[in-house]
Amino acid sequence: MPRHFLKDDDLAPAEQKEVLELALALAAERFAKRPLAGPRTVAILFDKASTRTRVSFATGVAELGGNPLVIDAAGSQLGRGESVADTARVLTRQVSAIVWRTFGQERIEEMARYASVPVVNALTDEYHPCQILADLVTIAQHTGGLADSDAALGGRSLAYLGDGANNMAHSYLLGGVTAGMDVRIASPGDHAPDPAVVRRAEEIAAVTGGAVTITDDPVAAVLDASAVITDTWVSMGQEGESGRDESTFATYGVTEELMAHSGGIFLHCLPAYRGKEVEASVIDGPRSVVWDEAENRLHAQKALLTWLLEHPDDQTAAHALPIGAGR
Ligand code: CP
Ligand code: NVA
Repeated sequence: MPRHFLKDDDLAPAEQKEVLELALALAAERFAKRPLAGPRTVAILFDKASTRTRVSFATGVAELGGNPLVIDAAGSQLGRGESVADTARVLTRQVSAIVWRTFGQERIEEMARYASVPVVNALTDEYHPCQILADLVTIAQHTGGLADSDAALGGRSLAYLGDGANNMAHSYLLGGVTAGMDVRIASPGDHAPDPAVVRRAEEIAAVTGGAVTITDDPVAAVLDASAVITDTWVSMGQEGESGRDESTFATYGVTEELMAHSGGIFLHCLPAYRGKEVEASVIDGPRSVVWDEAENRLHAQKALLTWLLEHPDDQTAAHALPIGAGR
């Protein structure tokens, strides 16, 4: 059975830490690993737009010795209605891993059910776990490195402001507490995270020593946070939805005034909309680490692919942590 990475808690804390350690090592010595030498091919499929994910996966697969096959779904039979299951059956006979950016999480879960090679979530409506790995690498680089314990970033906190119901918020919840972090999400009440994801994050936090706070108070969230983070107020596919204008999220924009409540760094997965979710002087200022964060997509995903290919028969993390109703 292959290991997949469909959401952040598919890696148990100690496993996530191994991936982060490898990412930091690859950042220092970029060509140290060649698990795709052959070259073996990785299919990288996009149902939605992308700059960073496309470039970092294509570059990363090449640097691992492999052949990146980037496919825009609109130009494939998947885009004309061929089933996910049949696509998985075809790809799995030829490629060594499948990376997919798509819409609903159920689509990538179906791909994983029918694939006998690792399937990696390159963003769904619900989660963006590769981005969180890169962000955890970035936080490690700027806040004292990885912790000694299994929880990679114990003692660190992150505050995410904005749309609490989007893929980034959900992935910060699961990925952050897996790393043992104190995760705070500040959003308007009608844009709060999925309660099932919050429950799952609380379960993981109870094991890792992390913490979860869901609030509508941006100042309380950022107080002394190691990292202050935001994302677009309008995710891909939500364009034109009502209730996403500036009046909904205006008080959740990351301003210099808000940053004064935290001595931490500033992250943004990008693309950013200056003057909306973040002030230009913050994202372009001295506490912003967004360019390191964007580069770390490359190192984190190379580490993840290497780790998944090296652990084909392991149990999934679901078996490594006590599981409750949230999953
Ligand atoms: N952060 C991120 O995933 O960027 P892209 O949409 O450009 O891939
Ligand atoms: N929440 C954003 C992230 C983009 C990388 C979106 O889904 O569009």
